[in-house]
Amino acid sequence: MNEKIIIEGGKKLRGEVTIGGAKNAVLKLMAAALLLDDICEIHNVPALADVKTMLEVINKLGVKSEYNENEKFIKIDATNITSCTASYEYVSKMRASFITLGALLGRCNEAKVALPGGCAIGERRIDFHIKGLESLGAKVKIEGGYVVATATKLVGSEITLDRPSVGATENIMLAAVLAEGSTIINNAAQEPEIIDLANFLNAIGADVSGAGSSEIIINGVSQKDLHPAVYTTIPDRIEAGTYMAAIVASRGKAVIKNVFPNHLSAVISKLTELGANVSIIDPFSLEVSCPARPKAVNIVTQPYPGFPTDMQSPLMAVLSTAKGISIINESIYENRFRQIAELRRMGADVQQEGSHAIVKGVRSLTGVQLKASDLRAGASLVIAGLCANGTSEIEGLIHLDRGYENIIEKFTMLGADIKRVKIKDTNINNVKNNKRKQKV
Ligand code: EPU
Repeated sequence: MNEKIIIEGGKKLRGEVTIGGAKNAVLKLMAAALLLDDICEIHNVPALADVKTMLEVINKLGVKSEYNENEKFIKIDATNITSCTASYEYVSKMRASFITLGALLGRCNEAKVALPGGCAIGERRIDFHIKGLESLGAKVKIEGGYVVATATKLVGSEITLDRPSVGATENIMLAAVLAEGSTIINNAAQEPEIIDLANFLNAIGADVSGAGSSEIIINGVSQKDLHPAVYTTIPDRIEAGTYMAAIVASRGKAVIKNVFPNHLSAVISKLTELGANVSIIDPFSLEVSCPARPKAVNIVTQPYPGFPTDMQSPLMAVLSTAKGISIINESIYENRFRQIAELRRMGADVQQEGSHAIVKGVRSLTGVQLKASDLRAGASLVIAGLCANGTSEIEGLIHLDRGYENIIEKFTMLGADIKRVKIKDTNINNVKNNKRKQKV
């Protein structure tokens, strides 16, 4: 049965919240585990629908896995890979499973992975992935909706990305680990999740350096150099940023724990500019507060270390009640403003002009019925609901569940009035159909 979130807005968020492991890191580590013909263990795994989908994907390839959700770890035994195909069923559910392409190609010299296609937030092409794998010596063709990559052997090469794509950097890194010789990725993505992937690969015996800079070097090693490891993934900087934005929007004061503050520099700097106080308490926690109405600020989303596109929608919810006019320039995705229509229904004054959104801050928002269209748009609506007057009801939780673990529990701990309820089937035809089915 479908569910929705109900929020009674207007509570100032207070207390503390603990951040989980990074979705966009752990999914890639799970794919990277395919390179190892042995067992590895990943810790600080967040309880997310996407993690379960990735487990299904790798299990289908022959992996044996054990997921302990309470203890937040996964054991992955990829000793026997029995299939090199990641089917459309999974890739269409979760684009991140496309990252199995580089790992399977590296491990088996062949991979067949469904083309991910576009998604709710943009076209999301894969041309850099393909060019990168081809320059390592793979033959890549698109056949029946699948990317089919084969190689007699992969040989390291120098690759310059047209733009620092996170996924392309990761797919090339994974394919290059067991290639002959060295691979250099120029204009590589510098996100913390890339560093995490490099650290994991090095923990299992790979030779990767430069991650976190624009030049990554992967010196190929042989399969026998790889070995088991136990690895703990980084905290989720976007989950942390989302709670920070919510605390600011509610004019509250709270501590964010299990976070790496340096991963959030661009977000901290924007929140400070709009009038919030952010203080780093220790290397793993920070305190956020915003006693007064935030000021308008301008935002341009950029690859790391710039302001993250994943924080654009959450920040828009904050700016919709800020004092003055904010201009948001979304430079990464073509279609990441899907929260605007919903925020406007709450009384926000936001206009989209191409890749720009003009946000004229209003004094307050009003709770209404809402629908999340994608993960971060969903987060934006939750934040808006938390600071609105009255009741908001948010549907489309399938998106939120992909990236925010225990969101109800975490916001409740911060003092929000938020709950999750089942949606009653009020459609008269469905009721009649169900009765008919029962009779048969
Ligand atoms: N692009 C190309 N060609 C390519 C690859 C990318 O044109 O071959 C373009 C894309 O169309 C997009 C831009 O480059 O416009 C950036 O794409 P990138 O490859 O960097 O993103 P990604 O790897 O597909 C990851 C995260 C996203 C996050 C982006 C940017 C995962 C699973 N996803 O996507 O996270 O927005 O990096 O930081 O790691 C989310 O968590 O909500 C989310 C969408």
